[in-house]
Amino acid sequence: MRPYTSLLLTTLSLPGALSNFLGPIYPAPRDLTSSNSLVAAAWKNLTISLDRSLHGQSNSTLSEFNDLTFSVGLFSTRDSKAEKLQYHHAAPETRNASFGTQTVDGDSIYRVASVSKLFTVLAGLIELDLEEWERPLSEIFPEFAHFVREKSNTLDPIYDTQWNAITPFALASQMGGISQYGAPWTPDYLALYVLEPLILGTSSPEYNPATYGFPPVDPSDPANHAPCTTPEGFVGGICDPESYAEGASTNPPIALPWTSPVYSNNGFTLLGMAIANLTGKTLDDVYQESIFDPLNMTSSYSVVPPNSTLPRSVVAGEPQANFAIDNGLSKSSGGIFSTLNDLAKFSTAILNSTLLDTHTTHRWMKPVTHTSDLHYAIGAPWEIYRYEHPETGLVTDIYTKLGDSGSYGAMTLFIPDFDAGLNLITASTQATRSQQTLDLVQAVIGVFLPALTKQAARELEQKYTGTYVSATPGLNSSLTLTPSKIPTSPGLSITSWIQNSTDVLSIFYGSPIFPTKATLRPLITPHGSNQIAFRLATTPADPVLPRDPSNLFSAFYDADQFAQLGQYTYANLYIGEFVFEIQEDGRVSGVTPAAWVGRLEKV
Ligand SMILES: *[C@@H]1O[C@H](CO)[C@@H](O)[C@H](O)[C@H]1NC(C)=O
Ligand SMILES: *[C@@H]1O[C@H](CO)[C@@H](O)[C@H](O)[C@H]1NC(C)=O
Ligand SMILES: *[C@@H]1O[C@H](CO)[C@@H](O)[C@H](O)[C@H]1NC(C)=O
Ligand SMILES: *[C@@H]1O[C@H](CO)[C@@H](O)[C@H](O)[C@H]1NC(C)=O
Ligand SMILES: *[C@@H]1O[C@H](CO)[C@@H](O)[C@H](O)[C@H]1NC(C)=O
Ligand SMILES: *[C@@H]1O[C@H](CO)[C@@H](O)[C@H](O)[C@H]1NC(C)=O
Ligand SMILES: *[C@@H]1O[C@H](CO)[C@@H](O)[C@H](O)[C@H]1NC(C)=O
Ligand SMILES: *[C@@H]1O[C@H](CO)[C@@H](O)[C@H](O)[C@H]1NC(C)=O
Ligand SMILES: *[C@@H]1O[C@H](CO)[C@@H](O)[C@H](O)[C@H]1NC(C)=O
Repeated sequence: MRPYTSLLLTTLSLPGALSNFLGPIYPAPRDLTSSNSLVAAAWKNLTISLDRSLHGQSNSTLSEFNDLTFSVGLFSTRDSKAEKLQYHHAAPETRNASFGTQTVDGDSIYRVASVSKLFTVLAGLIELDLEEWERPLSEIFPEFAHFVREKSNTLDPIYDTQWNAITPFALASQMGGISQYGAPWTPDYLALYVLEPLILGTSSPEYNPATYGFPPVDPSDPANHAPCTTPEGFVGGICDPESYAEGASTNPPIALPWTSPVYSNNGFTLLGMAIANLTGKTLDDVYQESIFDPLNMTSSYSVVPPNSTLPRSVVAGEPQANFAIDNGLSKSSGGIFSTLNDLAKFSTAILNSTLLDTHTTHRWMKPVTHTSDLHYAIGAPWEIYRYEHPETGLVTDIYTKLGDSGSYGAMTLFIPDFDAGLNLITASTQATRSQQTLDLVQAVIGVFLPALTKQAARELEQKYTGTYVSATPGLNSSLTLTPSKIPTSPGLSITSWIQNSTDVLSIFYGSPIFPTKATLRPLITPHGSNQIAFRLATTPADPVLPRDPSNLFSAFYDADQFAQLGQYTYANLYIGEFVFEIQEDGRVSGVTPAAWVGRLEKV
């Protein structure tokens, strides 16, 4: 084994995205709000910039958000005061609104659009068991069973959806391959042609199939339209579940089940119907009993909120055209109304496993599938962004759900590695709302995540670095930790490590147990516990560069330690594992190198 030489290593040149194991770079920070916190400072800075740009004193890129009414705020399960870091802006059209509020704050009610899908999956995780999640839809909806039976000998996988292979979990993770929209919200050209005279009283070329060279078909033939897009179905207002399922059953697939993620509002309408059927409750009762009541979300609704809440509701445009639309069967896809304060309760509860056990939460907050882009993955129904830190190449996964419908937008973002996140709700009748919502997320995350990372690094340095010595009299054991100087390999560097008068560092340094450049990084952080375990991790020696597959395979053992963690043990305990004790106030009081058992006290 090579002897210890020097830990003062030269910094690496910037490589591609780095990995060693999936998990936090640092322990989650506990101070997001005090006057010393880097997060609070960055937030203050951002809000000052927003104030200047939105109230006329400066013209920055942030001025773009002037016409967007929005509420944005942070949350953290480590610092509950983070929920108070909020920013609100009422656009001119809201300040001049004839209906609803003219100002916005944390209690203003907005539609949250497709963030509703996250409520639906959480409700399903609370209400359904694993067998129900995996039950084929043809065993839940008789209309689908009927379709599958009819097609048993003639099924054409291109034109016929295989409802016996699609489950509620496939719908939740956008892996059913089924059609995007469900009747009566489908923008089908034939349906629009049929509905135009009924709704608008006009017959314009824009909606005439002949304009596009489509072949003439009989609009009254049931094979040509879903039941709810018939005049009877649509004008009747809200579709009934049986008609909806009958209509959906004949929709051709977009992809085969479990092959490629395809965003489907229709899938979430069906998921809501399945949850209602399997629980025997209305969806409104499901949301109320499993989420709103337990979390005291008193300003959240799955129906149009009562008129008494109108004075604090953000009504973009005419109420009947947007805010006050009853989503009916599609509420599980986009029908929830909420406030920034209620979303903070919701998000905190998800991160803190308030309504689920922690294992279910950990399993849930994972990707189900890649997308074709290295930076995005899809879960149930997570839209997962892989944020590469520009200075280090390290990756932080951000679990989100976007809402974008009509005059409303929203996004809820979770950074599980840091036990924190942010919520954003927007409203505007302008076509720019959709892109501006994403631009605002970009602007805020670009300030928040780097600040959170720096705060976490600072707390690691303040709490963990220093010297730890054995409290047992006469036992010569000690450990000295310093902040890592290698930007691409953050964490704690071990600069001295003696166990029972033996210089362990000089023996192991440079060996597979303790590779050069290895630093300590947190891997086990039990929920609500006063212990946290760190492990030795290395920076990839030869990372795979973007668009360069030449070492894709050869870098396997260098790039990701998942194949190597925990190989070396003594008496069945891991060498390279260090278990720290945390006090109530966040101070670190001691550490135990697991394989050496004896506790070392911080001096
Ligand atoms: C504050 O914002 C300005 C740009 O608006 C930036 O240059 C500066 O670094 C920020 N300071 C902090 C502490 O985030
Ligand atoms: C702000 O800057 C943009 C682009 O730089 C420009 O188009 C716009 O007119 C400016 N607005 C004001 C109020 O100066
Ligand atoms: C304010 O609202 C009134 C009535 O809805 C409308 O006539 C007027 O143009 C609006 N003003 C602005 C500045 O939007
Ligand atoms: C669920 O669907 C089945 C099949 O249509 C039906 O028999 C059952 O009554 C439904 N249950 C509820 C609670 O709606
Ligand atoms: C529930 O929320 C309401 C409104 O935010 C608040 O006034 C009340 O104290 C909360 N109740 C509990 C038990 O936390
Ligand atoms: C709420 O107010 C609107 C507009 O004034 C009215 O059309 C509607 O019937 C009211 N809803 C209820 C439940 O009273
Ligand atoms: C320290 O080493 C001595 C000599 O090998 C041994 O007798 C003693 O048990 C060791 N103590 C501990 C706590 O490892
Ligand atoms: C503890 O052990 C180290 C390594 O063998 C040695 O250099 C040091 O002098 C010892 N300290 C004491 C107080 O015995
Ligand atoms: C999160 O859960 C922990 C452990 O159960 C608890 O101590 C803490 O108060 C919770 N935090 C929030 C914000 O709910």
